[in-house]
Amino acid sequence: MNLILLGPPGAGKGTQAKRIVEKYGIPQISTGDMFREAVAKGTELGKKAKEYMDRGELVPDEIVIGIVRERLSQPDCEKGFILDGFPRTIKQAEALDEMLDDMGKKIDAVINIVVPDEEILKRIVYRRVCKECGAVYNLIYSPPKQDGICDKCGGELYQRDDDKEETVKERLRVYKEQTEPLINYYSQKEVIYNIDGTKDIEEVWKQIESVLEKIR
Ligand code: AP5
Ligand code: ZN
Repeated sequence: MNLILLGPPGAGKGTQAKRIVEKYGIPQISTGDMFREAVAKGTELGKKAKEYMDRGELVPDEIVIGIVRERLSQPDCEKGFILDGFPRTIKQAEALDEMLDDMGKKIDAVINIVVPDEEILKRIVYRRVCKECGAVYNLIYSPPKQDGICDKCGGELYQRDDDKEETVKERLRVYKEQTEPLINYYSQKEVIYNIDGTKDIEEVWKQIESVLEKIR
């Protein structure tokens, strides 16, 4: 299964991607995670990406398209993949179509997680992420058992640099301007499934699972 997870920042793409990985055994390709890793390692890519991420802006298309092309060519993507946070512009979507064409592949479903702005701010401001394993928590909706410590691996939890209220507002603005047009793009291709992302994590998962069982 070749999937795209679409939705505004904080919609729950990463949270649900991890469930898809667990159940279907296909890799999650999160461009956001890839950039954060590069930032943590202090690579050239990381330095460049950080400038944009800290402002809540998108990293330039050429850079993102390059890293996705490279990632999709790896052998673990043969059996399928979940794109989480890519594509985010029409230019990225067109580049993806070309890449997949060259590989003789296509997108089976675009899962569009729909959540209104008010809810998003709450989710992101209270988000905490494990430094070690990347598990995602929310201090209100899905708190860790022990303060500041990951349930799964005991790692330390941290708040992302771009999760400050002002930056989140800019990310939302950028989403509406540059990413939302993709809903129309994929509607025309008749591969989009809208999911009510306001429900709790378990219920959102049930909706996604039922779509995936249908198309599998
Ligand atoms: P990226 O890392 O992709 O961030 P994002 O799209 O803004 O998405 P988030 O990771 O914030 O949210 P999510 O939908 O994964 O939600 P989560 O599951 O964590 O991108 C970061 C930056 O990198 C961009 O701003 C850009 O600069 C750059 N970048 C990345 N990709 C790019 C690209 N393709 N092109 C250009 N630039 C790119 O959930 C959020 C919170 O809510 C958590 O606390 C979670 O526990 C909680 N939660 C989840 N589901 C529920 C629920 N159902 N009910 C209650 N709480 C919930
Ligand atoms: Zn952990």
